[in-house]
Amino acid sequence: MAEALRLPAEQRYPEEFAALLANDRDPRPSNWRLSPRSVETFLLGSQGKALSYEEGGVAKSVVIRKKFYGDDVLVQRAIVTLASDRGLLLIGEPGTAKSWLSEHLAAAVSGDSLLTIQGSAGITEDQIKYSWNYALLLAEGPSKRALVPAPLYLGMRDGKVVRFEELTRTPHEVQDTLLSCMSDKVLTVPELAGDGSGDGFVLAQRGFNVVGTANTRDRGVNEMSSALKRRFNFETVPPVEDLNEEIKIVREQVTGLLEGSAARAATLPDEVLELLVTTFHELRGGKTSDGVKVDRGNGVMSTAEAVSVGFHSALYASFFAESKVEPEHVVINLAGAAVKDSAEDLKVLRNYWDVAVKPRATKDVGLWKAYYKARSYLK
Ligand SMILES: Nc1ncnc2c1ncn2[C@@H]1O[C@H](COP(=O)(O)OP(=O)(O)OP(=O)(O)O)[C@@H](O)[C@H]1O
Ligand SMILES: [Mg+2]
Repeated sequence: MAEALRLPAEQRYPEEFAALLANDRDPRPSNWRLSPRSVETFLLGSQGKALSYEEGGVAKSVVIRKKFYGDDVLVQRAIVTLASDRGLLLIGEPGTAKSWLSEHLAAAVSGDSLLTIQGSAGITEDQIKYSWNYALLLAEGPSKRALVPAPLYLGMRDGKVVRFEELTRTPHEVQDTLLSCMSDKVLTVPELAGDGSGDGFVLAQRGFNVVGTANTRDRGVNEMSSALKRRFNFETVPPVEDLNEEIKIVREQVTGLLEGSAARAATLPDEVLELLVTTFHELRGGKTSDGVKVDRGNGVMSTAEAVSVGFHSALYASFFAESKVEPEHVVINLAGAAVKDSAEDLKVLRNYWDVAVKPRATKDVGLWKAYYKARSYLK
């Protein structure tokens, strides 16, 4: 049987959606799948409370898992913006869950997170609005049948949220395409506009909106035209501040990744997870929890990278050891994520081992000693 590597958010939590739909008492904005309050619950979780629902005559209940950690008010503001006439732009450092948040918002609001435009330097207008089936176009001339709709067309036509990833990486003329659709709420197909059929105009239906993401390490938001900036509300998504919260995220994500993998039996003990996440957290912040300054490199020490190292370590333990992740497995898999483009980054890691790991190893707390011993893999 074919197995998808990763399901889109709207397909990943069928029980949660069934329960939220069954318990949704609040009014929904037109074309929204859930009320704003239920969208919030989908993202922030039901805080341990089980929601009951019925499936095929059988009573069931489910606790809604927390999906986004951080500022709850940020999520509420994002939901408000999506219900308004302005787009939502999530900006921030790499790996702070901007895409994750946008995917889950689109899934909860529109039941569809796949209307996604992947912004890049090479993107063209027809990948955003529409293109043509050239065989039909040559045979019949321009017609609705020959038109191949792209995400913006579909989102406007069906009243759904369209995701625009890495918006600031796209050239200005393509950003301008978005501008006209967002301000006039109409998409024009000039080839069909004169034939009197009405097919030349797509009027945006209620529920349509755009959620963009932009990474502050790539081309900046400053390079967006001020006209387009005005069409968006900006939300900065910061890195996770609380170490324990970050540990929770990494544990959940790694568990999820392991479930469907070849390493189902692997275990990542809490004490090892703590070493891993503490390393990322402190290298990102430039100091340890004891206030010791540590060097920072060019590599991105984001939560997303910590998840990746956790997953790799578990795969490693399952393939080449006894399936239980040990501190040295983390070190073996660390450099691939932390050292991206310069040997300097390796120095940064070694410095961390000297100033942060060594003192803890000397005090013999937790598994720091074993972690320190494994420093020979950092080369
Ligand atoms: N605050 C958070 N809450 C929940 N998950 C988080 C959080 N921060 C990071 N993550 C996890 O890290 C990953 C973040 O990846 P994502 O691709 O969304 O980052 P991004 O901000 O879009 O990065 P980029 O700018 O590189 O595109 C997700 O898998 C998510 O589970
Ligand atoms: Mg992203």
